[in-house]
Amino acid sequence: MLVSAKEMLEKAKAGKYAVGQFNINNLEWTKAILLTAQELNSPVILGVSEGAGKYMCGYETIVGMVKGMIKCLKITVPVALHLDHGSYEGAKACINAGFSSVMFDGSHYPIEENIAKTTELVNACNVLGISLEAEVGSIGGEEDGVVGAGECADPNECKMIADLGVTMLAAGIGNIHGKYPANWAGLNFDVLGAISEKTGDMPLVLHGGTGIPEDMIKRAISLGVSKINVNTECQLSFAAATRAYVEAGKDLQGKGFDPRKLLAPGFEAIKATVKEKMELFGSVNKA
Ligand code: 13P
Repeated sequence: MLVSAKEMLEKAKAGKYAVGQFNINNLEWTKAILLTAQELNSPVILGVSEGAGKYMCGYETIVGMVKGMIKCLKITVPVALHLDHGSYEGAKACINAGFSSVMFDGSHYPIEENIAKTTELVNACNVLGISLEAEVGSIGGEEDGVVGAGECADPNECKMIADLGVTMLAAGIGNIHGKYPANWAGLNFDVLGAISEKTGDMPLVLHGGTGIPEDMIKRAISLGVSKINVNTECQLSFAAATRAYVEAGKDLQGKGFDPRKLLAPGFEAIKATVKEKMELFGSVNKA
């Protein structure tokens, strides 16, 4: 069964740890993340960008795949299926398709329009028991065509959006999607502290989890971050392990070309990355 992210994030906020959102791209990705969460007894959020949604043949296909896997693999830890950086239309489509959580990223709209659209979705999600993530202050970098300049969020605007009754709030604090450039200034903890103070119990979301140094992750959690999104890092470990397998000529040995063999090292690499993150975020044994 899929659950809303509300309860797991409220527990994380109170317990001073974070739940990982790991983005999925296909069956192997999903299976690797679910099995790792179960092995570590950790709650987990599966993230789906609109681009990945199209790639995996639509939201209904994804809901079917994830629900089927939870049943077949006997996954008992809390799992939320979440739309990542959704448009208003995308959020509605995922709500209709059976997602248990959605993000509406209205950060590129003027704040009044972000508030108006977020308010409509708060009402729809509350009726259905679906968790809703909103965003203020865009996340830098590029993810599936969604490009953000990486400005820091205004704490007063964060409070306005938090007060609408969303479940969790993503706020730009100098974080970016993808790899961080060598001259990256780091997370802005002054802004995070101010947002945290204004928004009280609201679980805060840190996007761009790939490549943020451990000490910054821990400090962010201590300042109220309860959900951390990771996407690129799983892609990098999958690609590196697959490359090593092919470069070692293993696809040419015996039945090494069988996709169940060819994709196995990448699958194991995703599991290792997810494990490392769950341990760092402190969500192990919090299911
Ligand atoms: P990374 O790809 O940088 O890990 O960011 C993931 C993310 O924030 C998804 O919304």
